[in-house]
Amino acid sequence: MAKDPAKRVAELSAELEEHLYRYHVLAAPTISDQAFDRLLQELQALEKAHPDLKLPDSPTSRVGGEPTSAFPTVPHVRPMLSLDNSYSREDLEAFDRRVREGLADEEYSYVFELKIDGVALSLIYENSRLVRAVTRGDGIQGDEITANARTIPTIPLRLRQPGISCEVRGEVYMENAAFAALNIQREKDGEPLFANPRNSTAGSLKLQNPNLVATRNLRYFAYWTHRDDDGAQCHSERLDALREWGLVVNPATERCATVGEVFALYDRYAATREELPYEIDGVVVKIDRLDQQERLGNTAKSPRSAMAYKFPAYQARTALLDIHLQIGRTGAVTPVAILEPVPLAGSTISRASLHNEDEIRRKDIRIGDTVLIEKGGDIIPKVVDVDVKKRPKDAAQYQFPDQCPSCQGPLTRDAAEVKIRCENPSCPAQLRRRLEHFAARNAMDIDGLGPAVVEQLIASELVQDLGDLYDLELERVSALERMGKKSAENLLAGLERSKQQPFNRVLFALGIRHVGGTVASILAREFGSLAALQEASIEALEETPEIGPTIAQSLHISLAAPEIQPVLDKLVAAGLQFEMAAVAVSAVESYFSGKTVVITGTLANYSRDEAAALVERLGGKTTSSVSKKTDLLVAGDKAGSKLGKAQDLGIEIFDEAAFAARVQEAGAA
Ligand code: IVH
Repeated sequence: MAKDPAKRVAELSAELEEHLYRYHVLAAPTISDQAFDRLLQELQALEKAHPDLKLPDSPTSRVGGEPTSAFPTVPHVRPMLSLDNSYSREDLEAFDRRVREGLADEEYSYVFELKIDGVALSLIYENSRLVRAVTRGDGIQGDEITANARTIPTIPLRLRQPGISCEVRGEVYMENAAFAALNIQREKDGEPLFANPRNSTAGSLKLQNPNLVATRNLRYFAYWTHRDDDGAQCHSERLDALREWGLVVNPATERCATVGEVFALYDRYAATREELPYEIDGVVVKIDRLDQQERLGNTAKSPRSAMAYKFPAYQARTALLDIHLQIGRTGAVTPVAILEPVPLAGSTISRASLHNEDEIRRKDIRIGDTVLIEKGGDIIPKVVDVDVKKRPKDAAQYQFPDQCPSCQGPLTRDAAEVKIRCENPSCPAQLRRRLEHFAARNAMDIDGLGPAVVEQLIASELVQDLGDLYDLELERVSALERMGKKSAENLLAGLERSKQQPFNRVLFALGIRHVGGTVASILAREFGSLAALQEASIEALEETPEIGPTIAQSLHISLAAPEIQPVLDKLVAAGLQFEMAAVAVSAVESYFSGKTVVITGTLANYSRDEAAALVERLGGKTTSSVSKKTDLLVAGDKAGSKLGKAQDLGIEIFDEAAFAARVQEAGAA
């Protein structure tokens, strides 16, 4: 006989949470991934069949949260202070003296912790349930990102002990391996790379789609908690409580009786920090006793009872062999230092950033110099200093070229940006970057158009602008060196397929400054076609949600530029999609034709993507936020603020049954 579903749901939820805890917190799983997935699927199926049985903390609810268009700003329960920084032994000794004086020679001890290089996050638990997660913001108020925090497996949705109401603070971070994998993927997809794990953590937490956040492998170390009346005497007791509740406290955390012990630990981690799977930028010492912390009090921005002691940046000295100018796809010129290869922080460095002309002049960096390079938080090291004493006699002051190294055209200086650009739209270096961007996976996704092929197409002058791509002929392409018929056919087939890419992809692929993938999707959705975008005034563009003046201006200027028109003409003639598909299929007359629809909450029989695809097939368009322009809101289970807003605006609202009926009526179900 089948089990009582309510019982089974509770059983499965508890069991799955326990396995998640064993896997992510204890790092000691007791079942295989497959066995876990089977349990999860069983729970998902039960919840789908009995939506009313789904528990608020169900392990299935870690993902699938509602996409959010903006994160509400909420005040912190207590101000989130920051730490004062020390950079030397003397600094920390001075801190220790201040503490001793502040405590009038009473005994004290420290807790030593690692300073995790991530993003601070405050978690609010009420009756052991995670109810809110808020970023630091300005310390007084931050962004509420609860749906994103729920996807982080080391953040418990429910504490392992009942009845606890508390605030937990800690650091969200990304392990180095996850960071590297993410950047490899982004490179493949033609997306900008993250400079370091901290930036990729911050970027991930700002994503508006929790399902995407869940793929980012974020983690959380808790380092602080507060609860009224817990009777705790010491910070270290509270760290123990955090562990008992199921949070992860960094294992390097240790009590130190003296500042001397702190120095020993600091030295140990300074020497071995490269072996840790995540980035730390120093250590933290905190007075252990809570009453002593209180007596020492706070300055305006940090507690007097704690101090960060930062590690020095990784540095090395090497010879500057040359300065290359790198030309981006929009013509921006960046000088790059070409170095005598030197080992630094686990890798061999042969290039470093020189930022811009001003920087080279200010530091009087010359070719032939011995330079000091530094790897701070970023992957790309930078040149921080020059050893003038080692300068060869004949080293001349660096003259920034006034010609583009690629097309020999003039370089111009943009006063506002301190940026130098090559303004020649047919500059081969720009064209190369533009073609690479156009072909990238998240743009036109053209198989067979990798960097090497791009190079050859440009060198042979078969391609002089994006538009020429679609005129390529098999015979000419297969005649290229190292090409052959097979790769040529592959390229042409890839180009042919790319004609089906939707308008938003095409718009992104054009490589207009400030028009990334998300912005392109918004513009495509709101304006529907290239013609409409070209006609739109800057003001009209700016009125679009999420489009600011910088984007509006860049788009307006780019689409009106005389040199882009022939390119666009060729692309239009080639049959690329310059209109949103929804317009094309709106021939299927339905209730949804011409309507702007927002879908919110959980639908039992469709995923939100499926429902949106249906609306679009039936001639409607879907947007993510409710506004006066919305015609219809489809509200599933647990519809949140959008439902309230739609009610306020008097917008028509469908529940799932009404939605399904209209879909069926149109014969599209
Ligand atoms: S304690 C009142 N402990 O470093 C100070 N912070 O300004 C509360 N951080 O962004 C912070 N590891 O998120 C503390 N073990 C640790 C930490 C840590 C990293 C971050 C923190 C904040 C910055 C300090």
